[in-house]
Amino acid sequence: MTTELHSFADITLWRRAVVAAIARSIANAGSQQLVALPGGSTPRTFLPALASEIPCWPDTTVTLTDDRRVPRDDPRSNAGMVRQLLLDTLEGPTTFVPPLTASGEDAADARGLPCRRFDLIVLGLGEDGHIASLFPGSPAVEDGGIDWVSVDRAPDGLARISLPMASLVQAQYLVIPILGNLKRRLVETAIAGAGDMSLPLSQLLKKRNLGETLFLWSP
Ligand code: 6PG
Repeated sequence: MTTELHSFADITLWRRAVVAAIARSIANAGSQQLVALPGGSTPRTFLPALASEIPCWPDTTVTLTDDRRVPRDDPRSNAGMVRQLLLDTLEGPTTFVPPLTASGEDAADARGLPCRRFDLIVLGLGEDGHIASLFPGSPAVEDGGIDWVSVDRAPDGLARISLPMASLVQAQYLVIPILGNLKRRLVETAIAGAGDMSLPLSQLLKKRNLGETLFLWSP
């Protein structure tokens, strides 16, 4: 088990490192891979470069760490963003199994995914210490469930769905791209095992005793 924080002087170097880390994890993972990609604004900065670096994802099932219960053509839909910036630009077909249908309902074909071990999860981190859509104070942070977590009302006022903590804890590779000093301080504190141990990020690092966790940071 390893946990590392790598720093990059600017966003160009950071983007290259994020894409390389994802490509390396996928190359190491073997066949029939299960991969989850995050939402939020940070992936917008590296998904197009990822599509150029890995133009074919033939043996991979791609899902999301979480999403908002909005129609897929809503700009806040993570599925819509991942489709537009990555999947629709790839050279071959990819198996995309998002947790929600195009109208924002639970997707039946995604139901069993959290029971499987993820080869790679690319994870977003919020400035309040949330990961995926597991927010501070949510009972799901402590819960060991292996099902998608339904969030009635996230801080942005929207209902969401999220991978459970157990999926994040058990993933072979966790790649966590972060930008800004606030997130860096959050990560340094959590890695040190200091600060508010109830934060989702701190709980994740505490429970994770296998696989690789790589934080990639730029100002
Ligand atoms: C989402 C994700 C969330 C996100 C973090 C970081 O917003 O869809 O659920 O976990 O990854 O909040 O968001 P930024 O990349 O916008 O800082």
